[in-house]
Amino acid sequence: MIGIEKLFAVAGQAVVVTGGASGIGLGYAEALAANGARVTLLDMDAGRIAAEVARLVAAGYDVRGASVDVTDRAALDRAIDDAAGAYGRLDTIFANAGINSGVGYLGGWVGAERPRITEGALENYDDARWDRIIDISLNAVFATLRAAARHMRPQRSGRMIVTTSAAAIRCEPAIGMAYMAAKAGAAHLVRNVALELAADGITVNAIAPGMFATNIGGGALRQAEVQAAVARGIPAHRVGTPADMYGLALFLASPASSYVTGQQIVIDGGFSLGQAD
Ligand SMILES: NC(=O)c1ccc[n+]([C@@H]2O[C@H](COP(=O)([O-])OP(=O)(O)OC[C@H]3O[C@@H](n4cnc5c(N)ncnc54)[C@H](O)[C@@H]3O)[C@@H](O)[C@H]2O)c1
Repeated sequence: MIGIEKLFAVAGQAVVVTGGASGIGLGYAEALAANGARVTLLDMDAGRIAAEVARLVAAGYDVRGASVDVTDRAALDRAIDDAAGAYGRLDTIFANAGINSGVGYLGGWVGAERPRITEGALENYDDARWDRIIDISLNAVFATLRAAARHMRPQRSGRMIVTTSAAAIRCEPAIGMAYMAAKAGAAHLVRNVALELAADGITVNAIAPGMFATNIGGGALRQAEVQAAVARGIPAHRVGTPADMYGLALFLASPASSYVTGQQIVIDGGFSLGQAD
């Protein structure tokens, strides 16, 4: 008989979550911390880290935090080294920090009026916007996995989990193109790193969320009217919440997934399948 306590065990694990002070990253952190993992939240929002660490510690969880911009590679290396140093190891890392895609070339949403957006058109696309999104959602993922590998390869074990997006799979005209390119790039980076590290006992996978109500983009998806409009285009007729991530986070960090690597698991209420009704 296989008990779920052992199969999904994460107690005692040393875990780092980038972008861990909010939304999906905070969901990952809570799922693992509630099951006995020791979790470090890395985020550029120092105020939110302080508030979330205080809340989770008060709930009895072993959680710490540090402020870092994941695009500052030296600072990111130091923060990951510090966390691994504090625990004496690094078992699981979530490369999750991310920002809003900004506008795409169409406005509105599936099933509604879809005006052309001048700013989102290819010939008008802004360099600074392209660079910033590629920096956070692709370059920083590389830097995060590299820093983690320096700890995981010598210990010959580890879990790397990257938050990509359903936009890595399905093009959506309302989403800025840099975001889709960065997320698709991160998904393929995951496959490549998984291949290289498979013999070292390290698994590398991606979680590709659909539409989740978080603080991204000023928290637009947390507003009831926006949620209702978006939910019409989702086969499950609702947006996701960070709590929807608990199961996948535990699966990918625990022994239950030890033979799963290089995969991108979509969690989107059917959004990437197409329009249901
Ligand atoms: N919410 C969605 O609908 C959705 C859909 C697909 C993918 N995602 C991805 O999920 C991940 C988490 O986003 P979320 O929706 O939870 O948003 P969120 O805004 O609630 O959380 C993102 C966190 O990342 C942090 N962050 C942003 N830039 C950073 C940087 N340079 N350095 C350090 N921290 C930084 C923010 O401060 C924030 O705390 C992102 O990679 C995002 O692209 C979200």
